[in-house]
Amino acid sequence: MTTPHNLTAVWNRCHAHLQPDPAALPLAPPEHCTCPLCDSPRAFAITAHVRYGEAHWDHDAHPLYCPDCRQYSLTAAPDMPPVTAVNARLWSASPTFLNIEPTTRCNFSCWYCVGRHMRQQDIRPEDFDAMLDHFPTVETIALVGEGEPLLHKDFFPMAHRAKDRGIRVVIISNGSAFSQSVIRKLCEAQIAYIGISIDSIDPATFARSRIDGDLNKVWKGIERLRAYRDRHGFRYPKIGLKGTLFSYSQDDLLSIVAEAKRHGVEIFESFQALNPMRTYVPIYPEEGQREIAHIDAVAQAIAHDSAQAVALLPPISDFCAEEGIPLNDNLPANGLRQHCNEKWLYSLLSGDVTPCCQIKTPIDPGWNLFHHSVEEILTHPRYENTRFNLWNGLFPQYCAGCWKTR
Ligand SMILES: C[S@@+](CC[C@H](N)C(=O)[O-])C[C@H]1O[C@@H](n2cnc3c(N)ncnc32)[C@H](O)[C@@H]1O
Ligand code: SF4
Repeated sequence: MTTPHNLTAVWNRCHAHLQPDPAALPLAPPEHCTCPLCDSPRAFAITAHVRYGEAHWDHDAHPLYCPDCRQYSLTAAPDMPPVTAVNARLWSASPTFLNIEPTTRCNFSCWYCVGRHMRQQDIRPEDFDAMLDHFPTVETIALVGEGEPLLHKDFFPMAHRAKDRGIRVVIISNGSAFSQSVIRKLCEAQIAYIGISIDSIDPATFARSRIDGDLNKVWKGIERLRAYRDRHGFRYPKIGLKGTLFSYSQDDLLSIVAEAKRHGVEIFESFQALNPMRTYVPIYPEEGQREIAHIDAVAQAIAHDSAQAVALLPPISDFCAEEGIPLNDNLPANGLRQHCNEKWLYSLLSGDVTPCCQIKTPIDPGWNLFHHSVEEILTHPRYENTRFNLWNGLFPQYCAGCWKTR
């Protein structure tokens, strides 16, 4: 025999602001179960640590939440003492990694890039500095966004100012701007890592995706960078490979990796299929719309070949381990359902923080790193509630279409 405990009062005493989002994307039918308090068939499990009596914590509890009676319940053995505390703040470690979008401008016009449809602008250097002031514990910044970071005219002064504060800088680049002078500055600024996006080893296929891109120029730039860095004894930047594949290039991953290695690339970062999120899809041209039917097959091919690619080039996780960049904070996984436990902080060019790099619209005015400290943002009740929902796989509408919601 088991007894249902009504946790609602304890839940609200411990953290009333953590509530499943009533507008979240619907859960799959097998996720639902019967609420033991009102018999609604629409209850679903969430993850929390639960304390029975004075001191007995269960760190693997799955209370039910019912959207009809709005109560939390937990079924336990009859001899268990009453539940006296609940902790559902399980998602967050203190982030030490910040993604800053330096610019939305670019010299390429990749057909799948939302940056081409955004206002074209650069971050103001004073806003960049304010961000660092407001996040004094940041250890690594990724200067990455929907544009080409090296096009920002103050890229190197900003990178040096971050470095002077002891912050590691990493970037993702289209690899088109590696002139001799940019290469020297990249080495002198000790940019720790540059991920270079390459979608094909065939110049025509490359240009088909990365419109205005010249693959041979990218290869030559990588060779120059590697040669200069090694000749002058610089440890950085380490050079990585990433890219996006399509139905017409889904089998090319391993040949791209082999060719990139030949030109001096030394780390395998990742490849991805076309982004299926509802907020991205409308910008794709006709050909891109046809690609949507293929993304599952492309993603499968990428997963298969990525496992083999790491025999050719060491994975990015090795680089992170060597550099002390924490990728995994050893929190217990939430085994309930697909969920989002992103540990980095993402800032749009406007300073607005979002919990994921794929969310391109500001969510809450209180989450702006130009104007608020990182503690204010992280402890903001709505931020915490967003993290709570994402951690439990209760996705807000703006996540629609993301791989994790499929
Ligand atoms: C947005 S770009 C910005 C940095 C740089 N300009 C570059 O192209 O590497 C970062 C990465 O996102 C990928 N990307 C951009 N839009 C995408 C989309 N709609 N679907 C999948 N990948 C995308 C690009 O291929 C690139 O590897
Ligand atoms: S190079 Fe990068 S930022 Fe530029 S258009 Fe392509 S994906 Fe977008």
